[in-house]
Amino acid sequence: MAQGILRRYGEHLPITDRTPDLSLCEGSTPLIPLINLGRELSVELYAKFDGLNPTGSFKDRGMVLAVAKALEEGARSVVCASTGNTSASAAAYAARAGIPCFVVLPSGNVAMGKLAQAIAYGAKVVPIEDNFDVALDLARKGAEEMGMAIVNSVNPYRLMGQRSASWEICDELGDRPDWLVLPVGNAGNISAYREGFDYYSSLGRCSGLPRMVGVQASGSAPLALGREFPEPETVATAIRIGRPVNAEKAKKAVSDSGGAFLAVDDEDILEAQRLLAGRDGIFAEPASCAGVAGLMKLKERGELPEGIRIVTVLTGNGLKDPDALLSRISPIEPVKAQWSVLEEIFRS
Ligand code: F0G
Repeated sequence: MAQGILRRYGEHLPITDRTPDLSLCEGSTPLIPLINLGRELSVELYAKFDGLNPTGSFKDRGMVLAVAKALEEGARSVVCASTGNTSASAAAYAARAGIPCFVVLPSGNVAMGKLAQAIAYGAKVVPIEDNFDVALDLARKGAEEMGMAIVNSVNPYRLMGQRSASWEICDELGDRPDWLVLPVGNAGNISAYREGFDYYSSLGRCSGLPRMVGVQASGSAPLALGREFPEPETVATAIRIGRPVNAEKAKKAVSDSGGAFLAVDDEDILEAQRLLAGRDGIFAEPASCAGVAGLMKLKERGELPEGIRIVTVLTGNGLKDPDALLSRISPIEPVKAQWSVLEEIFRS
């Protein structure tokens, strides 16, 4: 039976008998062998497909704990800033908890599916005429001034819950992979993976850290390029972030693990999205494909060792952002509903 991470990993999480079980059966997502892409890159490649969580992204792993602890600690409402996925997840768990949820979003830069989710789950949606970094400043202010629980990754319970992904990977592979490759925005997830591997290592369940490779879009790459991006831009709107709040933790994760940050262009991200879907049958949202784009870049440069075991994290579902793909192809025109017309197409 699906359990959700509070039950599956409860002994490793700060749960008490007063913590409400808000589970939507998050976690326990598949680790899918990318047979075809792996062969092309000459590595043993797996995708941790966290786009199969209940709201379609990895955020659910931390959100179930953050909202449960907020309730336990007496909060009456939750607030977050978001590029989309955090807001969808916060809204779903707040609905489950029966408390209001306020989400502050960068207007015009949130994928349609994510916006629809937040509205469907009943959140109060506040688009602002600025970017995510400013939205986060405002959400933090709301939390300070009004006592709302902030459920961005500045909330420690978020990262604690997100550690569960690293534990699932180790439980399935019997150890950590050689490399872990994932997209980086606000830098919470890479930090959570680091903490998760460290913790499992201290229990003897894995051997230290994998080499951690954090991939950013080149138009929003403060960590990969070492400077602030006051006006971040990328097709991968989920990681359109110029001032990551967890930057220091993430830098430490990368340096302690002998890893690296990489920047990839939007075109490479979209190409990686097409390859993942077209070769291995997995449709992930653009930000999620940054990891695969990073691997392709390393391969091109001759910096990808052969035969190593790599897990790349597909953080969000492709269905959240169909526009990223459809807006770049010419419309598919309908044809006459006649067998002769179809026959010609089928034979071509
Ligand atoms: N991938 C997806 C699909 C995301 O939605 C995010 C972040 C990331 C990667 C990066 O993770 O921030 O922990 O480094 N989305 C946040 C949001 C910012 O508001 O949904 P990170």
